[in-house]
Amino acid sequence: MIYRNISLKPYNTFGLDYKADCLVSLKTEEEAIVFFRDRQSCGEPLLIMGEGSNLLFISDFRGTVLHSAIEEINPEENDESGVILSVGAGVKWDHFVEWCVKKGYYGVENLSLIPGLVGAAPVQNIGAYGVEVKDTITRVRALDISDGSVREFSNGECLFSYRNSIFKKDLRNKFFITKVYFKLGIIPSFNLRYDLLEEEVNKAGAISLRNVRQAVINIRKRKLPDPKVYGNAGSFFKNPVLSIPEAEKIIAKYPQIPHYPDDSGGIKLAAGWLIDRCGWKGKRIGNAGVHEMQALVLVNFGNATGKEIYDLSEKIRESVLEKYGIALEREVEIIGST
Ligand code: FAD
Ligand code: EPU
Repeated sequence: MIYRNISLKPYNTFGLDYKADCLVSLKTEEEAIVFFRDRQSCGEPLLIMGEGSNLLFISDFRGTVLHSAIEEINPEENDESGVILSVGAGVKWDHFVEWCVKKGYYGVENLSLIPGLVGAAPVQNIGAYGVEVKDTITRVRALDISDGSVREFSNGECLFSYRNSIFKKDLRNKFFITKVYFKLGIIPSFNLRYDLLEEEVNKAGAISLRNVRQAVINIRKRKLPDPKVYGNAGSFFKNPVLSIPEAEKIIAKYPQIPHYPDDSGGIKLAAGWLIDRCGWKGKRIGNAGVHEMQALVLVNFGNATGKEIYDLSEKIRESVLEKYGIALEREVEIIGST
């Protein structure tokens, strides 16, 4: 389905009313292959988009948005330890998590309630409460946008790292993901290392997939704003990862700063803590602001423009750089130009 001059308001969780020249919603892999082979009627540049829950538009998009609407979940194989599932890129991430919990499949329950579609999960290497999606993905199936050819990427080829993958770097907007293959466990196994998670699970009763999912949902609802109420894109910045000597200097000066070892060998510091200590939590400038429960989340109080949110993010970066000498990197992608 091709839509022209379409409002992107339903397609971004900041709730910003910018337009795209063209939006193509692709419902099957076959339809997508034909579209990429014969693409004649829609202009460049291209932007692949799920639910726009990690994007900030700062202007209309003068090009073509490719939106995945492939919705199917299929069991592929199983053995005594687990099951392999292929999941369409257009399935809502949290519907997939709920489906797994119902079926008794272990591995993604800590990632409950993350907005967005399955197709974006490997792009972002989504993570929460001690789990990253890379640990459950076996393969990613995608189409080369230049000619519609199919390519499958093994887990290793995806080059996953903290909120990053090959699809965000060299292959950004070059491969359209159609399916993601997950391997999930059928033998009970839980990850309750995140502070407070075990306590929250215990409140719900015995440890079970359902109770872990519910505990994660409870924690998230306390801290994170619902985009239907206040537009937002989750954490606006990444937690900075410093080398051990650099991190040691900061920790010696500010011993309270929350920090964790990162898979890369460095130390990850809590950006929310840094922003909070710069006095931003709960602050509002015009129609944009910093969430009162989580300083890492910027919100649209109703009528903000993308530029207002962007300008606020720049002010925050400047003050963290000035006070702590740390340059925060955005997690949210900025789309468009002023
Ligand atoms: P989009 O924002 O539309 O796109 C994100 C990126 O993926 C873009 O680069 C886009 O080009 C690319 N992309 C999307 N679909 C495809 C495809 N089919 N093929 C190729 N590329 C594609 N994230 C976390 O990791 N952990 C959290 O705990 C978390 N909490 C959040 C809480 C809230 C309230 C909100 C609003 C966001 C949160 N996020 C979190 C961020 C966001 O939900 C994730 O990044 C999510 O994976 C984005 O999905 P999306 O479908 O909206 O992708
Ligand atoms: N903190 C503050 N003040 C704040 C916010 C946080 O002091 O305003 C402190 C907290 O007290 C805690 C530490 O910072 O000690 C970390 O906070 P939290 O556990 O809330 O997690 P986070 O680092 O802010 C990350 C992810 C989230 C994910 C949560 C839970 C990033 C950029 N963000 O947030 O992911 O849900 O951990 O695992 O890694 C997202 O990526 O969009 C996202 C929401």
